[in-house]
Parts: sequence; C-alpha cells; structure tokens
Amino acid sequence: MCKDAIVFNNKPKGVTLDAWIPYYICACGRSKEGVFCDGSHEGTNCLPKKVIVEKTKQYHICMCKTSNSFPFCDGTHSMYADEEVGKSVKP
Ligand code: FES
Ligand code: FES
Repeated sequence: MCKDAIVFNNKPKGVTLDAWIPYYICACGRSKEGVFCDGSHEGTNCLPKKVIVEKTKQYHICMCKTSNSFPFCDGTHSMYADEEVGKSVKP
C-alpha cells in the first residue's frame, strides 16, 4: 500500500483483464477512472502496480487502494465508510 494514496472507492470494481498483457493499476487513487494509472500519481510517493494475469477473465480490482493483495480486492475496503471516499488511506 502507498501511504500517500487516497480512497478512490470503498468497493472493488470488476474489470476484465486479458492474459499475458501487462497492466499498470493505479495505486494512488488519483487516476481519473480509478483503475489504470494515468500519470496522476506525479508528486506523490506512489507508483502503479504492474500486473500480468494468466487467465482472461473479470477480476475485482481494489479501489480503496489498501488491499493486502493489491491490486486485487481482499475485503479490506470494509473499513472505509462512504464519507472516507476521496480521503487519505488509513495506515
Ligand atoms: Fe495512480 Fe498512477 S495515477 S498510480
Ligand atoms: Fe476491496 Fe480495496 S476495494 S480491498
């Protein structure tokens, strides 16, 4: 987890990833649509997470940016209330 990240949302997003394609998942919570890095992490200490999957299918991408299995959701988002969306992640 990047300590400079902000909570993009308090629930995951289902995204289809194609096998063997490198994807760069936004870890800072600042990219426009929240899933893929668009360079908005500039000025933070966050870097995108590169991921390559072995199967083409839908994955639950972590949008709270605090999953221990980032970039995949592990349920950690349950600690964020709706009011905490857009705010700093908890340490
Ligand atoms: Fe969030 Fe690049 S925009 S990591
Ligand atoms: Fe589920 Fe982040 S959205 S752990």
